[in-house]
Amino acid sequence: MITPNNLAAWWMPFTANRAFKADPRLLARAEGMHYFTLEGRPVLDGTAGLWCVNAGHGRAEITRAIQEQAAAMDFAPTYNLGHPLAFAAAERLALMLPPGLDHVFFCNSGSEAVDTALKIALAYQRAIGQGTRTRLIGRERGYHGVGFGGVSVGGIVSNRRAFPTLPGVDHLRHTHLAENAFSIGQPAHGADLADDLERLVALHGAETIAAVIVEPLAGSTGVLVPPVGYLERLRAIATRHGILLIFDEVITGFGRLGAATAAERFGVTPDIMTLAKGLTNAAVPMGAAVASDAVHAAIVDGGPAGIELFHGYTYSGHPLACAAAVAALDLYQAEGLFARAATLEATFAAAAHALRDKPHVVDIRTLGLVAGIELSPRDGAPGTRATELFHRAFDTGLLVRVTGDIIALSPPLIVSAAQIGEMFGRVGEVLDGLA
Ligand SMILES: Cc1ncc(COP(=O)(O)O)c(C=O)c1O
Repeated sequence: MITPNNLAAWWMPFTANRAFKADPRLLARAEGMHYFTLEGRPVLDGTAGLWCVNAGHGRAEITRAIQEQAAAMDFAPTYNLGHPLAFAAAERLALMLPPGLDHVFFCNSGSEAVDTALKIALAYQRAIGQGTRTRLIGRERGYHGVGFGGVSVGGIVSNRRAFPTLPGVDHLRHTHLAENAFSIGQPAHGADLADDLERLVALHGAETIAAVIVEPLAGSTGVLVPPVGYLERLRAIATRHGILLIFDEVITGFGRLGAATAAERFGVTPDIMTLAKGLTNAAVPMGAAVASDAVHAAIVDGGPAGIELFHGYTYSGHPLACAAAVAALDLYQAEGLFARAATLEATFAAAAHALRDKPHVVDIRTLGLVAGIELSPRDGAPGTRATELFHRAFDTGLLVRVTGDIIALSPPLIVSAAQIGEMFGRVGEVLDGLA
């Protein structure tokens, strides 16, 4: 292993760099459900890396596919050239998605997928003669990555504060309601929050709005599960006003909610879907914006001769990413991992909700194999309680994710019932000892 002389050169993402470098936590390898530290200590992966290693770590089928592709063709340009694997990966992905979402634009991350989706939405409205529709609608507490588009439609103040955002963006209210505390699965209250889109139509005029983007389940801001009927209502309002509905499924895609996508789980199909993370089981970076037949046809079939969409990335359809995607999608199917997540959902929810009476717990939210455990913040020191839990859990061999004072758990879909018990048991033990 190559070891660094010091930790100064790498400016780490979304990290308290000074604190981390004073007290680093370094991972050396990963296998199945575990990471291993430099000292060889196992750490149970309660977060599938960053919500992305859905089939577990070090899967031989994916490793082999990447190795073989690297040896056969390391890179191929995809502007006015193609390679079979990119078409195969797109075809395989489209087959997994709800009917009608058939046209895959590849990129390299969730952030790129979101910006691609927003641009496709704007291009679509222009292509159908609705060029006044330039406004984009996001939602409070949404996370859509870190591009300027994603930050603008996103709803996290720390990600927005230091940067100018796109003009003409507005937001729906978030769906987090106190009366839904400790809901198992979809909460009962809040479908009417979708009517915010109707209010924004009344405020701005439908003829100014191109698209609305939401995470079907908001992951990064603390596992906000959509209220019963909310997504259906949003779909209906968007359709009524000619507004495209974009589902950001970067987290919810690839089995996290016990179905291939949240769209499938909830029976609500968007016009554009963004995906990344589990697309390759995170073995090679890859993202995708997938457009409906109507959206694709308006831009590609209806446009003048020549390049139809002036957008793309050097690494769109990168051979190694495509090899990893095909292998990952095959693996998900061969092992029935999405159905497995559905089968484990009740066990997972029961284990999570058993922590209800532990110290500091003010809410627990679960759906599929995702749990959010919200803690009361310390007076004058928000976030420190959950951060301390993160450190203590890591030291005792469990990786959790923390956002504010909320702990998120989203293990690989290969997790066993015993490991689910171990995960929540450890969180409970740490909570018992936490001031
Ligand atoms: C819903 C959602 N969209 C977009 C992104 C951004 O993805 P990336 O970090 O790959 O750019 C994330 C990342 O967590 C996400 O959760």
